[in-house]
Amino acid sequence: MNTDTYSIPQLVTDLKNACAHATDEREIISAVRPLARRAARSKASWLQDRMYGVQADPGIGVYLLHEEPDHTLAILAVSWYPHRGAPPHDHGTWAVVAGVDGAEKNHFFERTDDRSRPGHAELRKVGEKVFQAGDVVAMPKGVIHSVSNETDVVTVSLHIYGKHVNYTSRSQYDLQRKAQLPFILDVRA
Ligand SMILES: [Fe+2]
Repeated sequence: MNTDTYSIPQLVTDLKNACAHATDEREIISAVRPLARRAARSKASWLQDRMYGVQADPGIGVYLLHEEPDHTLAILAVSWYPHRGAPPHDHGTWAVVAGVDGAEKNHFFERTDDRSRPGHAELRKVGEKVFQAGDVVAMPKGVIHSVSNETDVVTVSLHIYGKHVNYTSRSQYDLQRKAQLPFILDVRA
């Protein structure tokens, strides 16, 4: 049993230190990765039963744990309804996601079009991986991924972003229609 009591305020302090001492995104991500893992493993310090609350539609439950007044350093608990997920999307900032409870499958994509047509995007799948509790996926700005919960129970993950993703003008992608669309989350406090 994990007896670490690493809290969200402690995580925020460590995130600020990490960002203050990093010179580029790569350094930030490598510093944030172990912090995200530690926080995920210390879920007893911050995870509440209500954060498992998620409906089949839209299939994603988003709970804000922290953000700075300028929306930087956003920390979200995200729950995923069984056999639902998020379409391919980017974040408009760096993202570090740690599994908290259950397994979540990520697919990764790259753009194959020349980005010359607004609203048009073509993607090619370049990889997939299942992330379990304690696993961390670290994504520089620009990475496109999708997430699916292929299990029969609600899963939860801890998401840390350079900036709250509702303030980065990030996109979701419709593979069939080859469309690039806005992607705004319905976030609960
Ligand atoms: Fe994401």
